[in-house]
Amino acid sequence: MKIYAANDYKQMSRQAANILSAHVILKPDCVLGLATGSTPIGMYKQLVDWYNKGDLDFSQVKSVNLDEYVGLAPTHDQSYRYFMQTNLFDHVNIDPANTNVPNGLAEDPEAECRRYNQVIRDLGGIDVQVLGMGHNGHIGFNEPEEAFELETHVVNLTESTIRANARFFASEDEVPKKAMTMGIKSIMQARQILVVVSGEDKADIVKRAFTGPVTPNVPASILQMHPNVVLVGDKAALSKL
Ligand code: GLP
Repeated sequence: MKIYAANDYKQMSRQAANILSAHVILKPDCVLGLATGSTPIGMYKQLVDWYNKGDLDFSQVKSVNLDEYVGLAPTHDQSYRYFMQTNLFDHVNIDPANTNVPNGLAEDPEAECRRYNQVIRDLGGIDVQVLGMGHNGHIGFNEPEEAFELETHVVNLTESTIRANARFFASEDEVPKKAMTMGIKSIMQARQILVVVSGEDKADIVKRAFTGPVTPNVPASILQMHPNVVLVGDKAALSKL
């Protein structure tokens, strides 16, 4: 694993954006695995900046997002599709047809998960998967479990995740209780993993994930088994490593 320690959030975002840019430049039709959450927002901003300066071309890039809430419309301001549109897709020349996020309104979420697995397969796998990390070690919405779930599946969100995400909704009651997420196998098959972490509140889980035992109780710990992980974090998040 390669670790890049940045002084602050801004530098972390720039470093992560540099790594994604390298993929886009070296392989113009690369498949980017994208993530939501507050951590990667600065990275997307930086990519938009470089796009505006003419340094990046997304016209052939394909993207596949990790997860989506069950029950939220793509236009809902807390849906992950909306997040991707407003933070990246609407500001660069990516072809909308090349962007993939699970459909939160699918009538049959299980069938939607199966469709999504096929989408990932048809793309020929993911070149680089961006991951943030939840405080309980969740990646995408793979919550701590008895066993690793392999492919895209429907999950019941844990109390702690619902509480953490409640800040984005009018009340805790409005936070969806279920989500669809890529599984651990889909994530682990990405050719490179780019983990972004920021803030002191992530320091404990970063330590557990990268130096503790590999266990489905800390889903991110499986990343220790991946041959090509790049961890980009600010000093605060990496302080306990
Ligand atoms: C959400 C997302 C994850 C994300 C995590 C951490 O639950 N499903 O993909 O990594 O939260 O978010 P943040 O970066 O806001 O701490």
